[in-house]
Amino acid sequence: MGKKLYIETLGCAMNVRDSEHIIAELNTRENYELTENISEADLILINTCSVREKPVHKLFSEIGHFNRVKKPDAKIGVCGCTASHLGEEIIKRAPYVSFVLGARNVSKITEVIHKPGAVEVDIDYDESTYAFSDYRSSLYKAYINISIGCDKQCTFCIVPATRGEEISIPPDLILKEVKKAVEGGAKEIFLLGQNVNNYGRRFSSYDKRIDFTDLLKMVSEVEGVERIRFTSPHPLHMDEEFLKEFAENPKICKSMHMPLQSGSSRILKMMKRGYTKEWFLDRAYKLREMVPQVRISTDIIVGFPSETEEDFEETLDVVEKVGFEQIFSFKYSPRPMTPASEFEDQIPQQIASERLSRLQQMHNDMLDELSKNEIGKIHEVLFEELKPGGYVAGRSDNNQIVKVKGSEELLGKILKVKITDAKRLSLEGELL
Ligand code: 5AD
Ligand code: SF4
Repeated sequence: MGKKLYIETLGCAMNVRDSEHIIAELNTRENYELTENISEADLILINTCSVREKPVHKLFSEIGHFNRVKKPDAKIGVCGCTASHLGEEIIKRAPYVSFVLGARNVSKITEVIHKPGAVEVDIDYDESTYAFSDYRSSLYKAYINISIGCDKQCTFCIVPATRGEEISIPPDLILKEVKKAVEGGAKEIFLLGQNVNNYGRRFSSYDKRIDFTDLLKMVSEVEGVERIRFTSPHPLHMDEEFLKEFAENPKICKSMHMPLQSGSSRILKMMKRGYTKEWFLDRAYKLREMVPQVRISTDIIVGFPSETEEDFEETLDVVEKVGFEQIFSFKYSPRPMTPASEFEDQIPQQIASERLSRLQQMHNDMLDELSKNEIGKIHEVLFEELKPGGYVAGRSDNNQIVKVKGSEELLGKILKVKITDAKRLSLEGELL
Protein backbone atom coordinates (compact mmCIF):
# COMPACT_ATOMS: atom_id res chain seq x y z
CA MET A 1 0.00 0.00 0.00
CA GLY A 2 1.27 3.53 -0.79
CA LYS A 3 2.31 5.86 1.99
CA LYS A 4 0.74 9.21 2.82
CA LEU A 5 2.40 12.61 2.84
CA TYR A 6 1.17 15.72 4.63
CA ILE A 7 3.02 18.87 3.51
CA GLU A 8 2.51 22.41 4.69
CA THR A 9 4.07 25.25 2.70
CA LEU A 10 4.71 28.70 4.14
CA GLY A 11 6.38 31.75 2.58
CA CYS A 12 6.93 32.71 -1.02
CA ALA A 13 6.42 31.19 -4.47
CA MET A 14 9.95 29.73 -4.32
CA ASN A 15 8.79 27.64 -1.40
CA VAL A 16 5.68 26.55 -3.30
CA ARG A 17 7.93 25.31 -6.08
CA ASP A 18 10.35 23.70 -3.62
CA SER A 19 7.42 21.76 -2.14
CA GLU A 20 6.48 20.60 -5.64
CA HIS A 21 10.08 19.49 -6.16
CA ILE A 22 10.04 17.62 -2.83
CA ILE A 23 6.84 15.77 -3.79
CA ALA A 24 8.24 14.91 -7.23
CA GLU A 25 11.53 13.63 -5.85
CA LEU A 26 9.83 11.50 -3.20
CA ASN A 27 7.67 9.94 -5.85
CA THR A 28 10.63 8.87 -7.94
CA ARG A 29 11.54 6.36 -5.21
CA GLU A 30 8.52 5.81 -3.00
CA ASN A 31 4.88 6.05 -3.69
CA TYR A 32 3.35 8.86 -1.65
CA GLU A 33 -0.19 10.06 -1.83
CA LEU A 34 -0.96 13.56 -0.53
CA THR A 35 -3.24 13.87 2.46
CA GLU A 36 -4.69 16.84 4.32
CA ASN A 37 -5.11 14.77 7.46
CA ILE A 38 -2.01 14.86 9.68
CA SER A 39 -3.10 11.86 11.75
CA GLU A 40 -3.08 9.49 8.78
CA ALA A 41 0.24 10.69 7.30
CA ASP A 42 3.41 8.54 7.27
CA LEU A 43 5.54 11.58 6.49
CA ILE A 44 4.81 15.11 7.73
CA LEU A 45 6.75 17.99 6.19
CA ILE A 46 6.69 21.68 6.93
CA ASN A 47 8.36 23.94 4.38
CA THR A 48 9.21 27.02 6.40
CA CYS A 49 9.85 30.72 5.84
CA SER A 50 12.15 32.83 8.01
CA VAL A 51 11.78 36.24 6.43
CA ARG A 52 9.99 37.55 9.53
CA GLU A 53 10.20 36.44 13.14
CA LYS A 54 6.60 35.46 13.86
CA PRO A 55 6.33 32.33 11.69
CA VAL A 56 9.63 31.10 13.15
CA HIS A 57 8.13 31.33 16.66
CA LYS A 58 5.06 29.51 15.49
CA LEU A 59 7.13 26.66 14.00
CA PHE A 60 7.81 24.96 17.33
CA SER A 61 4.21 25.04 18.51
CA GLU A 62 3.16 23.73 15.12
CA ILE A 63 5.56 20.78 15.02
CA GLY A 64 4.65 20.07 18.67
CA HIS A 65 1.07 19.72 17.49
CA PHE A 66 2.14 17.45 14.61
CA ASN A 67 3.96 15.28 17.14
CA ARG A 68 0.86 14.93 19.34
CA VAL A 69 -1.54 13.94 16.59
CA LYS A 70 0.68 11.90 14.27
CA LYS A 71 0.70 8.12 13.90
CA PRO A 72 3.33 6.57 16.23
CA ASP A 73 5.78 5.67 13.45
CA ALA A 74 5.22 8.76 11.25
CA LYS A 75 8.25 10.95 10.54
CA ILE A 76 8.35 14.76 10.83
CA GLY A 77 10.74 16.75 8.61
CA VAL A 78 11.44 20.49 8.78
CA CYS A 79 12.39 21.96 5.40
CA GLY A 80 12.97 25.40 3.86
CA CYS A 81 14.44 28.68 5.04
CA THR A 82 14.04 28.22 8.79
CA ALA A 83 15.62 24.79 8.41
CA SER A 84 18.63 26.48 6.76
CA HIS A 85 18.74 29.16 9.42
CA LEU A 86 18.32 27.08 12.59
CA GLY A 87 19.79 23.77 11.38
CA GLU A 88 20.45 21.26 14.13
CA GLU A 89 18.98 23.56 16.78
CA ILE A 90 15.60 22.37 15.54
CA ILE A 91 16.33 18.77 16.49
CA LYS A 92 17.84 19.88 19.81
CA ARG A 93 14.67 21.76 20.70
CA ALA A 94 12.31 19.19 19.17
CA PRO A 95 13.99 15.77 19.28
CA TYR A 96 10.98 14.10 17.67
CA VAL A 97 11.90 15.84 14.36
CA SER A 98 13.46 13.18 12.09
CA PHE A 99 15.40 15.45 9.76
CA VAL A 100 16.10 19.04 8.77
CA LEU A 101 16.41 19.93 5.07
CA GLY A 102 17.52 23.43 3.99
CA ALA A 103 16.03 25.56 1.21
CA ARG A 104 19.05 24.87 -0.96
CA ASN A 105 19.14 21.12 -0.40
CA VAL A 106 15.72 20.08 -1.63
CA SER A 107 17.11 17.46 -4.02
CA LYS A 108 18.36 15.48 -1.01
CA ILE A 109 14.89 14.69 0.30
CA THR A 110 15.04 11.03 -0.72
CA GLU A 111 18.29 10.63 1.24
CA VAL A 112 17.29 12.39 4.46
CA ILE A 113 14.03 10.53 4.96
CA HIS A 114 16.10 7.41 5.59
CA LYS A 115 18.68 9.08 7.85
CA PRO A 116 17.22 9.74 11.29
CA GLY A 117 18.67 12.96 12.71
CA ALA A 118 19.98 14.17 9.31
CA VAL A 119 20.65 17.89 9.00
CA GLU A 120 21.30 18.95 5.37
CA VAL A 121 21.57 22.73 5.30
CA ASP A 122 24.60 23.53 3.12
CA ILE A 123 23.95 26.96 1.59
CA ASP A 124 26.83 26.52 -0.87
CA TYR A 125 25.26 23.41 -2.33
CA ASP A 126 24.76 23.89 -6.08
CA GLU A 127 21.36 22.69 -7.17
CA SER A 128 21.31 24.87 -10.26
CA THR A 129 21.80 22.03 -12.73
CA TYR A 130 19.90 19.36 -10.86
CA ALA A 131 17.09 18.07 -13.07
CA PHE A 132 14.18 17.61 -10.69
CA SER A 133 11.39 15.24 -11.53
CA ASP A 134 8.10 16.86 -12.22
CA TYR A 135 5.06 17.45 -10.08
CA ARG A 136 2.68 20.40 -10.43
CA SER A 137 0.05 21.50 -7.96
CA SER A 138 -1.79 23.51 -10.61
CA LEU A 139 -2.88 22.06 -13.94
CA TYR A 140 -2.75 25.31 -15.86
CA LYS A 141 0.04 27.26 -14.24
CA ALA A 142 3.64 25.99 -14.08
CA TYR A 143 6.15 27.45 -11.63
CA ILE A 144 9.68 27.18 -12.99
CA ASN A 145 12.82 28.25 -11.13
CA ILE A 146 15.33 30.28 -13.14
CA SER A 147 17.87 30.83 -10.38
CA ILE A 148 18.72 29.78 -6.88
CA GLY A 149 19.91 32.01 -4.03
CA CYS A 150 20.34 35.77 -3.92
CA ASP A 151 23.36 38.03 -4.36
CA LYS A 152 21.85 41.23 -3.06
CA GLN A 153 22.86 42.33 0.37
CA CYS A 154 19.69 44.08 1.54
CA THR A 155 20.49 44.74 5.17
CA PHE A 156 17.10 43.61 6.50
CA CYS A 157 16.95 40.29 4.67
CA ILE A 158 17.82 36.82 5.89
CA VAL A 159 17.47 35.17 2.47
CA PRO A 160 21.16 35.32 1.41
CA ALA A 161 21.87 33.41 4.64
CA THR A 162 19.22 30.77 3.98
CA ARG A 163 19.42 30.34 0.22
CA GLY A 164 23.06 31.22 -0.41
CA GLU A 165 24.66 32.98 -3.38
CA GLU A 166 22.81 33.49 -6.62
CA ILE A 167 23.36 30.99 -9.44
CA SER A 168 21.30 31.03 -12.62
CA ILE A 169 19.86 27.84 -13.99
CA PRO A 170 21.07 27.15 -17.56
CA PRO A 171 18.52 28.22 -20.20
CA ASP A 172 18.37 24.79 -21.87
CA LEU A 173 17.22 23.25 -18.59
CA ILE A 174 14.59 25.98 -18.17
CA LEU A 175 13.32 25.57 -21.74
CA LYS A 176 13.11 21.81 -21.30
CA GLU A 177 10.92 22.35 -18.23
CA VAL A 178 8.79 24.88 -20.09
CA LYS A 179 8.19 22.41 -22.93
CA LYS A 180 7.36 19.62 -20.52
CA ALA A 181 4.91 21.86 -18.63
CA VAL A 182 3.15 22.94 -21.81
CA GLU A 183 2.90 19.35 -23.02
CA GLY A 184 1.31 18.55 -19.65
CA GLY A 185 -1.39 21.17 -20.28
CA ALA A 186 0.06 24.33 -18.68
CA LYS A 187 -1.02 27.62 -20.26
CA GLU A 188 0.87 29.93 -17.99
CA ILE A 189 4.58 29.80 -17.19
CA PHE A 190 5.57 31.47 -13.93
CA LEU A 191 9.33 32.13 -13.77
CA LEU A 192 10.76 32.27 -10.26
CA GLY A 193 13.86 33.68 -8.66
CA GLN A 194 14.79 36.02 -5.81
CA ASN A 195 15.95 38.51 -8.37
CA VAL A 196 14.75 37.44 -11.78
CA ASN A 197 15.97 40.37 -13.84
CA ASN A 198 19.49 39.76 -12.60
CA TYR A 199 19.34 36.45 -14.51
CA GLY A 200 22.51 35.32 -16.30
CA ARG A 201 25.12 36.99 -14.10
CA ARG A 202 26.57 33.71 -12.88
CA PHE A 203 26.14 30.11 -14.02
CA SER A 204 27.99 27.13 -12.66
CA SER A 205 28.09 25.34 -16.01
CA TYR A 206 27.11 27.56 -18.92
CA ASP A 207 29.31 30.09 -20.65
CA LYS A 208 27.26 32.04 -23.17
CA ARG A 209 25.96 35.52 -22.43
CA ILE A 210 22.26 35.73 -21.78
CA ASP A 211 20.12 38.03 -19.65
CA PHE A 212 16.54 38.00 -18.40
CA THR A 213 15.19 39.82 -21.45
CA ASP A 214 16.72 37.15 -23.72
CA LEU A 215 15.25 34.43 -21.52
CA LEU A 216 11.77 35.99 -21.70
CA LYS A 217 12.02 35.98 -25.51
CA MET A 218 13.12 32.35 -25.57
CA VAL A 219 10.34 31.19 -23.26
CA SER A 220 7.71 33.07 -25.23
CA GLU A 221 8.85 31.32 -28.42
CA VAL A 222 8.05 27.88 -27.02
CA GLU A 223 4.97 26.59 -28.78
CA GLY A 224 1.95 26.33 -26.51
CA VAL A 225 3.06 28.98 -23.99
CA GLU A 226 0.16 31.39 -23.74
CA ARG A 227 1.11 33.48 -20.74
CA ILE A 228 4.30 34.34 -18.89
CA ARG A 229 4.59 35.77 -15.41
CA PHE A 230 7.65 36.19 -13.21
CA THR A 231 8.60 37.16 -9.69
CA SER A 232 10.46 38.99 -8.23
CA PRO A 233 12.15 41.57 -10.40
CA HIS A 234 14.38 44.17 -8.71
CA PRO A 235 13.70 47.86 -9.47
CA LEU A 236 17.43 48.47 -9.89
CA HIS A 237 17.63 46.13 -12.90
CA MET A 238 14.60 47.48 -14.73
CA ASP A 239 16.54 48.66 -17.75
CA GLU A 240 15.10 49.93 -21.04
CA GLU A 241 15.40 46.59 -22.88
CA PHE A 242 13.59 44.76 -20.10
CA LEU A 243 10.75 47.31 -19.97
CA LYS A 244 10.48 47.25 -23.76
CA GLU A 245 10.21 43.47 -23.86
CA PHE A 246 7.66 43.56 -21.04
CA ALA A 247 5.60 46.14 -22.93
CA GLU A 248 5.79 44.60 -26.39
CA ASN A 249 5.69 40.85 -25.84
CA PRO A 250 1.99 39.93 -25.91
CA LYS A 251 2.57 36.71 -23.96
CA ILE A 252 3.96 38.56 -20.93
CA CYS A 253 1.16 39.33 -18.47
CA LYS A 254 0.88 42.97 -17.67
CA SER A 255 1.40 42.92 -13.96
CA MET A 256 4.70 43.94 -12.42
CA HIS A 257 5.97 43.49 -8.89
CA MET A 258 8.23 46.41 -7.94
CA PRO A 259 9.38 45.96 -4.36
CA LEU A 260 9.83 49.51 -3.05
CA GLN A 261 10.64 48.68 0.62
CA SER A 262 10.89 52.39 1.49
CA GLY A 263 10.25 55.71 -0.25
CA SER A 264 13.03 57.50 1.62
CA SER A 265 16.36 57.62 -0.21
CA ARG A 266 18.15 57.77 3.13
CA ILE A 267 16.50 54.56 4.34
CA LEU A 268 16.97 52.90 0.93
CA LYS A 269 20.67 53.56 1.29
CA MET A 270 20.73 52.02 4.76
CA MET A 271 18.85 49.05 3.32
CA LYS A 272 21.47 48.80 0.49
CA ARG A 273 18.74 48.64 -2.11
CA GLY A 274 20.90 50.30 -4.74
CA TYR A 275 18.31 52.85 -5.96
CA THR A 276 16.84 56.14 -4.80
CA LYS A 277 13.28 57.37 -4.51
CA GLU A 278 13.76 59.28 -7.77
CA TRP A 279 15.01 56.22 -9.65
CA PHE A 280 12.09 54.16 -8.44
CA LEU A 281 9.57 56.84 -9.46
CA ASP A 282 11.23 57.20 -12.84
CA ARG A 283 10.95 53.44 -13.52
CA ALA A 284 7.34 53.32 -12.35
CA TYR A 285 6.31 56.32 -14.46
CA LYS A 286 8.10 54.87 -17.46
CA LEU A 287 6.33 51.55 -16.96
CA ARG A 288 2.90 53.21 -16.71
CA GLU A 289 3.67 55.23 -19.83
CA MET A 290 4.75 52.19 -21.84
CA VAL A 291 2.02 49.87 -20.54
CA PRO A 292 -1.07 51.89 -19.58
CA GLN A 293 -3.04 48.80 -18.47
CA VAL A 294 -0.27 47.55 -16.14
CA ARG A 295 -1.01 46.77 -12.48
CA ILE A 296 1.93 47.37 -10.17
CA SER A 297 2.32 45.58 -6.86
CA THR A 298 4.93 46.27 -4.23
CA ASP A 299 6.44 45.26 -0.88
CA ILE A 300 6.89 47.91 1.81
CA ILE A 301 8.62 47.70 5.18
CA VAL A 302 7.69 50.27 7.82
CA GLY A 303 9.67 50.98 10.97
CA PHE A 304 13.12 50.17 9.58
CA PRO A 305 15.78 51.26 12.13
CA SER A 306 15.93 55.07 12.44
CA GLU A 307 12.89 55.65 10.19
CA THR A 308 11.51 59.11 11.05
CA GLU A 309 8.04 60.48 10.43
CA GLU A 310 9.52 62.35 7.43
CA ASP A 311 11.01 59.14 6.00
CA PHE A 312 7.68 57.40 6.39
CA GLU A 313 5.92 60.27 4.64
CA GLU A 314 8.29 59.81 1.70
CA THR A 315 6.99 56.24 1.48
CA LEU A 316 3.39 57.48 1.51
CA ASP A 317 4.35 59.98 -1.17
CA VAL A 318 5.62 57.21 -3.49
CA VAL A 319 2.49 55.14 -2.79
CA GLU A 320 0.35 58.06 -3.83
CA LYS A 321 2.43 58.96 -6.88
CA VAL A 322 2.71 55.41 -8.25
CA GLY A 323 -0.79 54.38 -7.19
CA PHE A 324 0.18 50.75 -6.53
CA GLU A 325 -2.71 48.41 -7.21
CA GLN A 326 -1.47 45.98 -4.57
CA ILE A 327 0.74 46.42 -1.52
CA PHE A 328 2.26 43.76 0.72
CA SER A 329 3.22 45.74 3.81
CA PHE A 330 5.20 44.60 6.81
CA LYS A 331 6.54 45.90 10.07
CA TYR A 332 10.31 45.64 10.12
CA SER A 333 11.34 42.47 11.92
CA PRO A 334 14.98 42.19 13.06
CA ARG A 335 16.44 38.95 11.73
CA PRO A 336 19.53 37.10 12.91
CA MET A 337 22.57 37.23 10.58
CA THR A 338 21.42 40.55 9.06
CA PRO A 339 23.26 43.87 9.43
CA ALA A 340 20.09 45.88 10.14
CA SER A 341 19.35 43.87 13.27
CA GLU A 342 22.41 45.52 14.79
CA PHE A 343 21.63 49.06 13.66
CA GLU A 344 21.03 51.61 16.37
CA ASP A 345 17.70 53.30 16.81
CA GLN A 346 15.34 50.37 16.38
CA ILE A 347 11.79 51.74 16.13
CA PRO A 348 9.32 50.96 18.94
CA GLN A 349 6.61 48.47 17.98
CA GLN A 350 3.86 50.94 18.73
CA ILE A 351 5.18 53.49 16.24
CA ALA A 352 5.72 50.81 13.57
CA SER A 353 2.18 49.49 14.11
CA GLU A 354 0.72 52.95 13.82
CA ARG A 355 2.62 53.59 10.55
CA LEU A 356 1.55 50.24 9.17
CA SER A 357 -2.10 50.96 9.80
CA ARG A 358 -1.83 54.46 8.30
CA LEU A 359 -0.26 52.99 5.17
CA GLN A 360 -2.89 50.28 4.91
CA GLN A 361 -5.76 52.71 5.49
CA MET A 362 -4.46 55.04 2.81
CA HIS A 363 -4.11 52.17 0.39
CA ASN A 364 -7.58 50.79 1.11
CA ASP A 365 -9.03 54.19 0.25
CA MET A 366 -7.06 54.17 -3.01
CA LEU A 367 -8.32 50.67 -3.81
CA ASP A 368 -11.93 51.67 -3.30
CA GLU A 369 -11.45 54.35 -5.94
CA LEU A 370 -9.59 51.99 -8.30
CA SER A 371 -12.16 49.22 -8.06
CA LYS A 372 -14.99 51.59 -9.04
CA ASN A 373 -13.19 52.16 -12.35
CA GLU A 374 -13.17 48.44 -13.09
CA ILE A 375 -16.88 48.18 -13.82
CA GLY A 376 -17.46 47.78 -17.55
CA LYS A 377 -13.82 46.92 -18.32
CA ILE A 378 -12.97 43.83 -20.35
CA HIS A 379 -10.29 41.40 -19.14
CA GLU A 380 -8.82 38.17 -20.48
CA VAL A 381 -9.05 35.60 -17.71
CA LEU A 382 -7.39 32.19 -17.36
CA PHE A 383 -9.91 30.14 -15.39
CA GLU A 384 -8.30 27.90 -12.81
CA GLU A 385 -10.64 27.04 -9.96
CA LEU A 386 -14.23 26.13 -9.15
CA LYS A 387 -15.76 28.28 -6.40
CA PRO A 388 -18.81 27.78 -4.20
CA GLY A 389 -22.13 29.07 -5.52
CA GLY A 390 -21.59 27.91 -9.12
CA TYR A 391 -18.63 30.22 -9.85
CA VAL A 392 -15.36 29.67 -11.66
CA ALA A 393 -12.42 31.94 -10.82
CA GLY A 394 -9.14 32.84 -12.44
CA ARG A 395 -6.73 35.69 -12.97
CA SER A 396 -6.85 38.47 -15.48
CA ASP A 397 -3.82 39.22 -17.59
CA ASN A 398 -3.02 42.05 -15.17
CA ASN A 399 -3.38 39.73 -12.17
CA GLN A 400 -6.79 40.47 -10.69
CA ILE A 401 -8.97 37.66 -9.35
CA VAL A 402 -12.10 37.46 -11.50
CA LYS A 403 -15.06 35.13 -11.09
CA VAL A 404 -17.98 34.35 -13.38
CA LYS A 405 -20.95 31.99 -13.15
CA GLY A 406 -19.96 28.72 -14.83
CA SER A 407 -18.67 25.18 -14.44
CA GLU A 408 -15.78 22.81 -15.22
CA GLU A 409 -15.79 23.40 -18.94
CA LEU A 410 -14.26 26.86 -18.36
CA LEU A 411 -11.23 25.48 -16.52
CA GLY A 412 -7.95 25.97 -18.36
CA LYS A 413 -9.47 28.38 -20.88
CA ILE A 414 -8.50 32.00 -21.44
CA LEU A 415 -11.70 33.96 -22.10
CA LYS A 416 -12.85 37.57 -22.30
CA VAL A 417 -14.91 38.80 -19.36
CA LYS A 418 -16.81 42.05 -18.88
CA ILE A 419 -16.70 43.26 -15.27
CA THR A 420 -20.06 43.79 -13.60
CA ASP A 421 -19.13 44.08 -9.92
CA ALA A 422 -15.91 45.10 -8.19
CA LYS A 423 -14.70 44.50 -4.64
CA ARG A 424 -11.35 45.53 -3.21
CA LEU A 425 -9.76 42.14 -3.81
CA SER A 426 -11.89 40.51 -6.49
CA LEU A 427 -14.00 41.21 -9.51
CA GLU A 428 -17.12 39.56 -10.85
CA GLY A 429 -18.11 39.57 -14.47
CA GLU A 430 -19.83 37.87 -17.34
CA LEU A 431 -18.33 36.03 -20.31
CA LEU A 432 -18.42 37.89 -23.59
N1 5AD B 1 11.26 42.54 8.20
C1 5AD B 1 10.10 42.80 7.57
N2 5AD B 1 9.86 42.49 6.29
C2 5AD B 1 10.84 41.87 5.61
N3 5AD B 1 10.90 41.46 4.33
C3 5AD B 1 12.10 40.88 4.13
N4 5AD B 1 12.83 40.92 5.25
C4 5AD B 1 12.07 41.54 6.19
C5 5AD B 1 12.28 41.91 7.54
N5 5AD B 1 13.42 41.66 8.16
C6 5AD B 1 9.84 41.69 3.37
C7 5AD B 1 10.35 42.50 2.19
C8 5AD B 1 10.43 41.50 1.08
C9 5AD B 1 9.30 40.57 1.44
C10 5AD B 1 9.37 39.23 0.80
O1 5AD B 1 9.39 40.46 2.84
O2 5AD B 1 9.40 43.52 1.90
O3 5AD B 1 10.29 42.09 -0.20
FE1 SF4 C 1 10.80 32.70 0.50
FE2 SF4 C 1 12.42 34.44 1.75
FE3 SF4 C 1 10.56 33.17 3.12
FE4 SF4 C 1 12.70 31.88 2.22
S1 SF4 C 1 12.71 33.53 3.74
S2 SF4 C 1 10.55 31.21 2.08
S3 SF4 C 1 13.05 32.92 0.27
S4 SF4 C 1 10.19 34.66 1.50
